[in-house]
Amino acid sequence: MNRIGIVTSGGDAPGMNPAIRSVVRTARAENIEVIGFNRGYYGLINEIYQQLDVRMVGGILEKGGTILRTLRCREFETAEGLKKAAQNLDHLGIEGLIVIGGDGSLRGAAELLDFWNGQVVGIPGSIDNDIGGTDLCLGFDTAVNTALESVDRIRDTATSHERLFIIEVMGRASGHIALSVGLAGGAEEILIPEEEYEVDSIVTRVRAARKRGKLHYIIVLAEGAGKGFWLADELEEKSGMETRVAVLGHIQRGGKPLAFDRIIGAKMGSYAVQTLLEGESGVCIGVRSGRRNLTDLLEAVEGKSLSWENRGISQTLSI
Ligand code: F6P
Repeated sequence: MNRIGIVTSGGDAPGMNPAIRSVVRTARAENIEVIGFNRGYYGLINEIYQQLDVRMVGGILEKGGTILRTLRCREFETAEGLKKAAQNLDHLGIEGLIVIGGDGSLRGAAELLDFWNGQVVGIPGSIDNDIGGTDLCLGFDTAVNTALESVDRIRDTATSHERLFIIEVMGRASGHIALSVGLAGGAEEILIPEEEYEVDSIVTRVRAARKRGKLHYIIVLAEGAGKGFWLADELEEKSGMETRVAVLGHIQRGGKPLAFDRIIGAKMGSYAVQTLLEGESGVCIGVRSGRRNLTDLLEAVEGKSLSWENRGISQTLSI
C-alpha cells in the first residue's frame, strides 16, 4: 500500500485531531503517503485535499474540532456523488480510505464500497456515542465532562434559588450523553429519546421531592426527547416550582480533548492503518476493554445499547 486518504465527516468531536495525528504518523512510519481531504465528503467529491506529513500534525493533540474541517455532505448520499468520489480516489492513486465520523458518515463509507474497489475503514467519532462495536466513541467522554461542568455550576444556582432546572444536552436520536451526564451530575430526572415520559408523572415526583426537603430539581433532557422551553412552562405551571432552562448545545462539541479521547484517538488511528495493511475493508474500528475490535460498518451504525443502569442508579440516588 503506497497511498491512503483520510477524511473527517459529519459533526466534529474532540479526539478527531489525535486520531488524524495517529493515522498520519503510523502510515508514514510504514512509508505510506497520506492525503487529507478537507470539508468531509465534499472534499472527496471536489478533490479538495492536501498531503499530510508528520510535522503537519504536530501540536494538534490538544486542539478540539478537526484540522481537516468537516461538513454534512448531502451529495454523498446520492449515487452520482459516490461515483465522483470513487473516481477521484482512483485518480489520486488512493488504495485505502479512513473515515472518522458518526452514523451518517460511516453509512456513507459503507455505501462508497458499492462504487469503489479500494479499502475503507471507519473510526467512530461522535459525541453521541451511538456507534456499535466500541466501548466508547471518540469525543463522548470529553463532551460528557464539558456538560458536567455546566451541570455542577447550574446546581449551585438552582439550589440557592430553589428552582427546577431543565438542562438540555445533545443527542438528537440518542440518550447516551444524557444518561452519563445525569448520573455523574446527580440529576433528579433524565429524559431521553428512546423512552416516552409523562409530564404529570414528573410533576408528582417534583412535588414529592420538595416534600422530602429537596432544594432543587435538575432534569437532564436529551435534545431529541422534547422541547426544553415547552416542558419548562408545563412543569412550572403544574408543579408551582420556579423553572429555568439551559440549552448547552455546541459548547459540548468544542474544547480540547481530555486524556481518554486522546488515548483512544491514538489507538484508533493506529489500529485503522494496521487494519488497512491487513487487507480488511468495510469495517469500523472499536476499542473494547482496551483492545482493537472490528465490526462490519453497517452493523456498527446500527448503534450500541444504552446504559439503562445509569438511570436506574441515578433514580435510586436522587432521593
Ligand atoms: O454530532 C452529533 C450532534 O452533535 C448531535 O448530538 C446533534 O443533534 C447534532 O450533531 C447537531 O448538528 P449540527 O452541528 O449540524 O447542528
